[in-house]
Amino acid sequence: MKKLIKIATIIGARPQFVKAAVVSKALKHTDKFNEIILHTGQHYDENLSNVFFEQLEIPAAQYHLGVGSGSHAVQTARMLEGIESVLLQERPQLVLVYGDTNSTLAGALVASKLKLPVAHVEAGLRSRNRDMPEEINRIVADHLSTLLFAPTKGAVAQLHSEGIAPNSIHLSGDVMYDAALQFAEKSESKSQILTELQLKDSTYALCTVHRAENTDNELRLRAIFEVLSEVSKTMPVVLPLHPRTRNSLQHIDNGRFLADGIRILPPAGYLDMIALQKNAAVIVTDSGGVQKEAFFYRIPCVTLRNETEWPELVELGWNKLIDPTDVSIAAQSILGSIGRLGIRDAQPYGGGNAANRIADVLAECL
Ligand code: UD1
Repeated sequence: MKKLIKIATIIGARPQFVKAAVVSKALKHTDKFNEIILHTGQHYDENLSNVFFEQLEIPAAQYHLGVGSGSHAVQTARMLEGIESVLLQERPQLVLVYGDTNSTLAGALVASKLKLPVAHVEAGLRSRNRDMPEEINRIVADHLSTLLFAPTKGAVAQLHSEGIAPNSIHLSGDVMYDAALQFAEKSESKSQILTELQLKDSTYALCTVHRAENTDNELRLRAIFEVLSEVSKTMPVVLPLHPRTRNSLQHIDNGRFLADGIRILPPAGYLDMIALQKNAAVIVTDSGGVQKEAFFYRIPCVTLRNETEWPELVELGWNKLIDPTDVSIAAQSILGSIGRLGIRDAQPYGGGNAANRIADVLAECL
């Protein structure tokens, strides 16, 4: 029997399920790998976790650490302990981590201490804001990795500028683009969300908010909701609400300041989210992934942050960064973005075959 290359994939948060889905499929397709999936349990709500495994057809995780919520130190510490015991037992030839969450950091750190090679998918992104926990996670994960899969040319240049060995850096393209292409049809046939919510094409703004820099700062969070309530005077604002934001809103007047035109939904599954994004008039977000998905579907996007890891979207005219604390300017900027088109035929994220490239490089290097 052919000896398979054993890889341990470490994931735990919603965006990682999307990325791992397409890479996992590509690994399987080569018939060269035995992939073990370890779910840290960072995200545990049904609609932040299970629904993604189901809809994206991700193989069930062999290990689930169930770490749950906690401070960064507590959450990461629980992960370190649990990941180490699994890696000692499994002894994979490589550990695969994704993105910039605490699960990424923990996976990369444990693997490197055990002297196991680490591959980081979505390497080289920088917001240049070290107050963001994600920025620290990215930098550490990149500098611990043996193989770095950069989604864009800018990310490659960044890694070069930080002195990372050039032969460990691979321009793969963005696996989230692969996912958007692969699941578009399934969303079209399966998602009923627009009918359920009685929403018509281009008649609503879609919003997501979950970054700690927005949710954990009361002034900023209030300002964001004032902005959304201004926008909702012109068109409904549809808001699939992340649990972190739901918790923070409850602490501000029990969320009583929310305007009627803001339609709050539970977090959307992947297929519903595609449908909601594709048909929005404008997307307002602080998520990294949603900024790109807006571009994949060519919907104008406004980002509620002062900086982005995806600067090419701003340069191409598809994304605009705004400061939500200037409420009337921010609301005008969102409404003014409706119908704004950027450069249409740019392909900064590759051609939709990033996962295959990653599988090929892994097979070659291992
Ligand atoms: C994490 C990532 C962020 C990513 C995001 C996607 C870090 C530092 N942040 O942020 O980069 O963009 O995931 O969603 O890793 N909670 C629940 N149920 C869940 C998960 C979380 O109720 O299933 C609540 C808990 O109250 C928790 C809070 O959300 O304290 C924050 O969760 P956490 O895992 O710390 O980070 P996210 O905000 O989800």
